[in-house]
Amino acid sequence: MVERRLPIIVGNWKMYKSPAEAVAYVHELLPLVKSASAKIYLAVPFTAISSVAEAAKGSNLQIGAQNMHDASEGAFTGEIAARMLGEAGASFVVLGHSERRRLFGETNDFINRKVLKALSEHLQPILCIGETLEEREAGRTADILHQQLKECLAGVSAENAPNLLIAYEPVWAIGTEKAAMPELAQQIHQECLDWLKEQLQLEPIILYGGSVNPANGRSLLEQPAIGGLLVGGASLSPTTFSEIINTAPNEPEE
Ligand code: PGA
Repeated sequence: MVERRLPIIVGNWKMYKSPAEAVAYVHELLPLVKSASAKIYLAVPFTAISSVAEAAKGSNLQIGAQNMHDASEGAFTGEIAARMLGEAGASFVVLGHSERRRLFGETNDFINRKVLKALSEHLQPILCIGETLEEREAGRTADILHQQLKECLAGVSAENAPNLLIAYEPVWAIGTEKAAMPELAQQIHQECLDWLKEQLQLEPIILYGGSVNPANGRSLLEQPAIGGLLVGGASLSPTTFSEIINTAPNEPEE
């Protein structure tokens, strides 16, 4: 019997929850997901990482950050380094989220340096890619995604990034309640997987993100090229997030 790979379900809290609220959330979430057939990740604000990591000790939760700088340390007021995140209890980091690209001017080149730094500091990167509505309507989706992948993954190999995660998050689907149809997401994921294998010899897991909720989680997870979900708004309530997590099919497939 071939064991099915567990889906990875990531909650991205964005700029929500104080450390105390974050710990209360974890205490509420844990009993709701104790028999989940998924790997559960929480990307929390920097200030909550250590307290949440402590609260989640010994559980099936991985704690991570939503951003970092690519330098080891230095005069970068307001920034945070990979080593600081690791020491605080983070095991992964979300990089290149479309809000970082759009609101804070992050470029593929800068994101690439962050990806390489995260890998060298043993933080698992979750690289976010996605096209805007305008790009989609202009028929440029594949070109945009390939360019993001190529530039953000320069210097990344199967050897230095065995646990690389990608999140495909169409910008038009984030926070809009307009998730991509599962079939469309499947098609784009498969196309990216094929491209990554052929062009970069990489076989990462690709998560889908953008308006995931308890009603569409399962049909997205059923798509063979969708290895998990990145959930924003719907991860803020432990009940709603646990409903999404518990839609992951229970039985290992033959
Ligand atoms: P959403 O956000 O689930 O609220 O659409 C997803 C994300 O930005 O990661």
